[in-house]
Amino acid sequence: EKAGYKHFMAKEIAEQPIVLADAIKHYCRGGKINLPEELDFATLDRLTLVACGTASYACMTAKYWFESLAGLNCEVDIASEFRYREPPLPQNSFAIFVSQSGETADTLAALRYARDKVAKIVSVVNVATSSIARESDIALPILAGVEVGVASTKAFTCQLAVLLLLALEAGRQRGRIDDAALAEHLKALASLPGLMNQTLTREPTIAATAAAIAEAQDVLFLGRGAMFPLALEGALKLKEISYIHAEGYASGELKHGPIALIDKAVPVIVLAPRDALFDKTVSNMQEVMARHGKVVLITDAKGADEASYGTWKTLTLPELPALLAPILYALPAQLLAYHAAVAKGTDVDQPRNLAKSVTVE
Ligand code: F6R
Repeated sequence: EKAGYKHFMAKEIAEQPIVLADAIKHYCRGGKINLPEELDFATLDRLTLVACGTASYACMTAKYWFESLAGLNCEVDIASEFRYREPPLPQNSFAIFVSQSGETADTLAALRYARDKVAKIVSVVNVATSSIARESDIALPILAGVEVGVASTKAFTCQLAVLLLLALEAGRQRGRIDDAALAEHLKALASLPGLMNQTLTREPTIAATAAAIAEAQDVLFLGRGAMFPLALEGALKLKEISYIHAEGYASGELKHGPIALIDKAVPVIVLAPRDALFDKTVSNMQEVMARHGKVVLITDAKGADEASYGTWKTLTLPELPALLAPILYALPAQLLAYHAAVAKGTDVDQPRNLAKSVTVE
C-alpha cells in the first residue's frame, strides 16, 4: 500500500506532481477554467473562507490571490472561532469551506451557520461523499486521492491549486484578467508538476538539513506576502510530526517580538523566492544572522546568488512565477518536517494525540 515508501506521508509527498496535474487537468480545458456556471463572482461583494489547520493556511494563501487577481474582498477565519463569533455575512457573498476529510466538526458547523446568510455555500473537499460536500451548494473536489498520513501534504497543494483556479476565474469574470493573461497563468500552472518533480530531486539535501534541524528545540519559519501562510504551515507540519516546537511568523513581525528568541541554537527557515518582497525578507533574515540565528534560506537561483552569504544552509528551488511559489515551496517545508521526524524516530504517519479526521470539536 505504501508502494515501496517507508511511510504514507513520504508516498503522499512524492505523489504531488501527479495528483496536482490531475486536478489542473480536471479544471482546465481548452485554455479555459472549467467551473460550475453558478459560480458567478462578477458582482460579488465579499468572499469568506473558513477551515481548520492546514486547510485554513490554504485559505489564508488564497486571500492573497483573491485580492490581487480579482480585487475581491476576502475574509479568512478558522472554523472554531467563526462559528461561535456569529459574524455578519453579506447576502451578496459566497462562503467557501475547505476540508480534506469533509467531516471536520467545526468546519461543518461553520457551514451550517453560513447557510441562508450567503448567496452560495461552496466547499473545496477531497472526500467527495463527505458531509461538507453534501451540505454545500457547490462542492469542488481537489482530486488528491486518499490521504492516509495524518499530516496533510498532497491535499494542501491540491487545495491551493483549486483555490488559485477559483481566484483566476474570479479575476477573469471581474474584468481584471484578459484571455491572454489567463492563458499565461494556465500555462505556468501546467508547468508546476514538472517543477515539483525537479524539487523532489533535492530530497537528499533537504533530508540532510532536516537531520541538523532535528537537534533543535525551537524552530522559526518566516515568510512575507503569500509565503507567510506557508511559514505557518511549515511550522505546523514540523511540530505535529517531529514534536519540535516551531512557530511561523510574517517576516515583518520579527522585530515585534519573536526576534527575542533568536540565538545560535535556533534554526530559522526563511521562505523567500526572488519576488517583489525579497529584499524586505532578506533584511529580516540579516537581523536573524546578526543575532547568530541559523538561517536556512529557501529560494531560487537568483535569490541564492544575492543573499546566501552568511546563511547556515541555502536550498535552491526552480524559478517560477511568484503566484505559484506557495505551492512549490510547500514541498521543501513538508520534506523538512518529514525528515526531521524520521531523524527523531517519531511515528510519522500516526503522530501522538492526533486524528486524521477531527469529528468532535
Ligand atoms: C495538519 C492537518 C490538520 C488538518 C485539519 C483540518 O497536517 O492535517 O491541521 O488540516 O484538521 O482537516 P480537514 O481538512 O479534514 O478539515
